[in-house]
Amino acid sequence: MKPLLTVNNLFFKYPKTDKGLFDVNMTVYKGECVGVIGPNGAGKSTLLLHLNGLLKPLKGSVIVDGFNTLNEKDVFKIRRIVGLVFQDPNDQILKNTVEEEVAYGLLHTGLSEEEILKKISEALNAVGLKDYNERVTFQLSYGEKKKLSIASILVTDPEILVLDEPTSNLDPAGVEELVNIIKHLHERGKTIIIATHDMDFAAEMFDRCYLLDEGRIICEGGVETVLTNIPLLREHRLKPPTVTQLFANLPDCKNLPVRLKEAIEFLKTRL
Ligand SMILES: Nc1ncnc2c1ncn2[C@@H]1O[C@H](COP(=O)(O)OP(=O)(O)OP(=O)(O)O)[C@@H](O)[C@H]1O
Ligand SMILES: [Mg+2]
Repeated sequence: MKPLLTVNNLFFKYPKTDKGLFDVNMTVYKGECVGVIGPNGAGKSTLLLHLNGLLKPLKGSVIVDGFNTLNEKDVFKIRRIVGLVFQDPNDQILKNTVEEEVAYGLLHTGLSEEEILKKISEALNAVGLKDYNERVTFQLSYGEKKKLSIASILVTDPEILVLDEPTSNLDPAGVEELVNIIKHLHERGKTIIIATHDMDFAAEMFDRCYLLDEGRIICEGGVETVLTNIPLLREHRLKPPTVTQLFANLPDCKNLPVRLKEAIEFLKTRL
């Protein structure tokens, strides 16, 4: 099968620093939900900003559905395919009201006003911002802004949804809602790429993940393998999911669970 997105021997450096990405390779197939995990400053956001051509490789390439982000004429097409939700919603939100912000992504789509309003309310409902249409964006709480930034990308229905730290500043119910939205999109065949250091969320969401640190890919693998490698995670300032930590402290536990549901099933057989 042909990958939908590839990052090939990517080198990037921020000017006048030694920070960047060094020989990063990543392959994502259609319909996968892939994670990028790593500590603060690992380069997760830098990598994600390359996926829709906001940052360009100094060496190597990023190919999205056959289009190279280095070809300026293809960047518009790439941005239609890759919907990127920024880590900080303040970097993304441009408009005065919630409705204007979500409608912005639907400009030039040829949809009628009625269809646009329907899509806006679907996107706002999906993130728990029902009836927020007239609210002024800069008066929203940080968590509300985060939800709005997700809604304004969801509404454009991108083939690849890229989310940078989507759970930060969301309350527990907000995280659960987000998990459900992403699972629903995943079930509908969307391709999803998420950067996070929220390991419980990572375990719940990802098919597989890349561990990134100091701008380099340290390893790649299924969450059952990567998120149970406690020494490796610790070496890179990460912790395994909560249930994994709990079971790692029990005697004779060979197959460490990463998800709460599996841990509950396991305990039910024991009690
Ligand atoms: N515009 C910039 N100019 C110079 N250095 C930068 C710039 N943006 C990021 N960096 C540096 O590049 C490195 C990677 O940053 P990046 O934001 O990609 O990390 P991250 O893994 O997303 O971290 P976090 O978990 O805190 O979001 C960091 O050391 C950061 O200080
Ligand atoms: Mg980041």
